[in-house]
Amino acid sequence: MAKGKKTAAGPVLAGNGLAVNIGISDKDRGAIAGGLSRLLADTYTLYLTTHNFHWNVTGPMFNTLHTMFMAQYTELWNAVDPVAERIRSLGHPAPGSYAAYAALASIPDAPATPPNAMEMVRILKEGHEAVARTARSIFPLADGAGDEPTADLLTQRLTVHEQTAWMLRSLLQA
Ligand SMILES: [Fe+2]
Repeated sequence: MAKGKKTAAGPVLAGNGLAVNIGISDKDRGAIAGGLSRLLADTYTLYLTTHNFHWNVTGPMFNTLHTMFMAQYTELWNAVDPVAERIRSLGHPAPGSYAAYAALASIPDAPATPPNAMEMVRILKEGHEAVARTARSIFPLADGAGDEPTADLLTQRLTVHEQTAWMLRSLLQA
């Protein structure tokens, strides 16, 4: 059956003909999945930048930053899966390519040449703040649709990104 076609019973059918009938409208599921796709792209991009900086950091703070970046990229890596799987639970495909992430992300790729250590910290602080803004922008959609699992996921992500941004800001305030 065609994608998005209404049945006599009302629920909207996904592409494979199986209805997604969880009490959230087709329009709201699409809007929330679109927002979560931007959050996934931001999170993956920030993950890769943080891992890049773990590899390339230099200077007197090497040990501290190398270790801190590892904790941060591990957390980001673990975060992409629940975001992607929430998109799937809403009946939409999860983006998973560098081209899709480049198109969807609100944050830039890591610089081609590794910056100095404090510039790395500044870039990551900007990144965590940007991901927090992306997560926050989805909240009204989830709230309005009664989508508590997405709201819960966004709350968890906001807590991490705002706390990490604070820690990075504190490093910059030497
Ligand atoms: Fe390592």
